[in-house]
Amino acid sequence: MSDSAAQHILRVGHSPALRGVCSVPGDKSISHRALLFGALCRGPVEIRGLGLGGDNASTAAALRALGVPVHVSGSSALVDGRGFSGLIEAKAALDCGNSGTTMRLFCGLLAGRPFETTLTGDPSLSRRPMGRVAKPLRLMGARIDGQIDRERPERLLPPLVISGGNLRGIDYALPVASAQLKSALVLAGLQASGKTSLEEPGLSRDHTERMLRFLGAPIHADPVTRRVVVDPSGWNGELSATAVEVPGDLSSAAFLLVAAAVVPGSDVTVEHVGLNPTRTGVLDVLQAMGANLEVVQTSQAMGEPVGRVRVRWANGLHATRIAGELALRSIDEIPALAVACALAEGRSEFADVGELRVKESDRIASITRELERAGIEVEQTSTGFCVSGTVGAPPKGGRVLPDRDHRIAMAGAILGLLSDEETTVPSEDIATSFPTFVEILQTLGANIK
Ligand code: S3P
Repeated sequence: MSDSAAQHILRVGHSPALRGVCSVPGDKSISHRALLFGALCRGPVEIRGLGLGGDNASTAAALRALGVPVHVSGSSALVDGRGFSGLIEAKAALDCGNSGTTMRLFCGLLAGRPFETTLTGDPSLSRRPMGRVAKPLRLMGARIDGQIDRERPERLLPPLVISGGNLRGIDYALPVASAQLKSALVLAGLQASGKTSLEEPGLSRDHTERMLRFLGAPIHADPVTRRVVVDPSGWNGELSATAVEVPGDLSSAAFLLVAAAVVPGSDVTVEHVGLNPTRTGVLDVLQAMGANLEVVQTSQAMGEPVGRVRVRWANGLHATRIAGELALRSIDEIPALAVACALAEGRSEFADVGELRVKESDRIASITRELERAGIEVEQTSTGFCVSGTVGAPPKGGRVLPDRDHRIAMAGAILGLLSDEETTVPSEDIATSFPTFVEILQTLGANIK
């Protein structure tokens, strides 16, 4: 193997107890919004605690291409906001990389701008469905062209070409609970004439609503009815340039918390992490599985609860069922939770998780394949999958095939901490969301290099 290939392989071995206090990089979802909404303010917006991953870098680069100065230095950024009307036509296609959030949020933003923009992505993003965003934006008056999926002609795929301007508000029931879709429509609604009223079938993460309200946008959200109303009449079109602080990413912390719950003797605390209730399903699931969890809210940032989570290994976990609202509140943590279930006593079920088929990989396929490879019994179902835990028998090692999906790579590495054999993981995609994953695990004492 050449040196450069070797640099991208993680070697994971059976690990001693993980112990320590750590913090994780800024929340990826909130960082996208901090950059994007910062660009829509008038004047400089300072962001602290910005996510350091490739997805957030894609959003920063796309904003620069639209004429917004964005200076990133470590986990701080300065965005020189230009307002909606200050965005200029990009000279080339905007490359959204691996980031579905970048592509879908920019669809909503650019649907209201009076110029043409092309949005492209990497091979994984180029397979993800964009019709869910294009359909309502077309109803609002935007023109959006894309590629037709040969296997599923009803599906619209990137690259997308958007010709925006002159939007009108709509009353729209979202066919799927998706924060990316909801946020795209809110961004279009802020630029439309008249009111936009949205209703979700389940409450997806609400960072957009919280941050935009914090910045003074005319948005009203009711988490009980799952309705969001944007009414720009009487609004001067400006967001107030205010410093923004991003809490740590609970989706990244989830891998450390699961590791602490399954590696005997562990005691791990993650500090300053986001505890937005639309995201804390992972904590509820671990608690239901018998994990010893301590969750303390310590502060609030832009309407987002922030706190500390401590997990102490507690003699093993037991099986659980994850469905409905709980599945939605833990959708990005399911690769990590599948590892917890693989090492728990009994048969766990993940239901209502069909959306996993259209994430960075087909996660139902990639999770079940990787667990099977490790010798764990799994079964795909009509809305998800089941995992029969292997208590006592350690998982097999071997080579993880993450399908270029950051969360599958990290889940494979965590499973490897329990194996008596070496597990190897191609690691180049981990930096999409959690560039300090290996470094933090090493500090906690994990056998990973
Ligand atoms: C995200 C929303 C979710 C989530 C993704 C980030 C966001 O996707 O899975 O990782 O930042 O809005 P969907 O909107 O497709 O559910």
